[in-house]
Amino acid sequence: MAAFSRTATVVVPAKINLALVVGPLREDGYHEVATVFQAVDIYDEVEVRRRSAGSGVSIAVSGAQAEEVPIDESNLAWQAAELVAAEADVDPDVGITITKRIPVAGGMAGGSADAAATLLACDQLWRVGLSRERLEELAAELGSDVAFALVGGTAIGTGRGEQVTSAMSRGTYHWVFALSERGLSTPRVYAECDRLRAGSTVPVPKVPAALMEALLAGSAEKVGAALTNDLQSAAVSLRPELDMLLEVGRDSGALGAMVSGSGPTVAFLVSDEEAALDLAVSLSASGLCRDVVRATGPVPGVRAKED
Ligand code: C5P
Repeated sequence: MAAFSRTATVVVPAKINLALVVGPLREDGYHEVATVFQAVDIYDEVEVRRRSAGSGVSIAVSGAQAEEVPIDESNLAWQAAELVAAEADVDPDVGITITKRIPVAGGMAGGSADAAATLLACDQLWRVGLSRERLEELAAELGSDVAFALVGGTAIGTGRGEQVTSAMSRGTYHWVFALSERGLSTPRVYAECDRLRAGSTVPVPKVPAALMEALLAGSAEKVGAALTNDLQSAAVSLRPELDMLLEVGRDSGALGAMVSGSGPTVAFLVSDEEAALDLAVSLSASGLCRDVVRATGPVPGVRAKED
């Protein structure tokens, strides 16, 4: 192994929330949630490269919707590099190259995934040797979904989503995703959820037992029936056309149909690859979405790219 590497490359999967139960708004502006994440095999790739002393952080993005990704310090990947540099006591002189396949602002945690990937890649580049625990703490500082991207697989998220515990799940699940032309802002969707629920008492969020049993049994049908997302009505309220997409999936016999996270991506669970292909054709023909992507899950979280 080379004593000094100039680059480190990491791949990181997208996530969906099989359940997203949104509790009350907290004093810190976040909502208490109980969520079940599954990582699916749509990957972003993040390469970090040493730059000369004093040149700081830079970000370049390629792939679909690349122009919608910020390349300044508002990008969580930039902040991730600075956090690891501070841990390593080095200057953050690093070029970050992100190859995007995860939909941007699509409710699949693409930005969070890139941040998790940058944490791991910078840890490797600068040979910091951060523990898993410390990486998860840094991830939680960056955003609610970053810690899950490190863990992957199937996991329960509590707190604001950043407290992640792996969960038991059997089998492979086949998904079809309908991608929208424009993204949705997560804070806006949460705010719309609050507006729609104004005046009602919001209970403490709990992970649905039926979903956990279905995952343990490896029953795609039962998982499909147990999918739930408290942000769905808010996303549909902001983008009424999502309802039509959900309808196309239900009419085509999907086992489950829901908005992914804060949307606007719509996720459909189907029984196998053939059903996925059939549904992909129907969704494309509907003219209601920008693109249709098939994927399977669960898959492991962020990892070094194999050559
Ligand atoms: O943590 P993250 O940066 O991903 O969150 C983006 C925004 O989404 C927050 O500023 C907040 O408005 C909203 N959010 C929330 N409750 C959560 C997670 C996110 O209200 N549990």
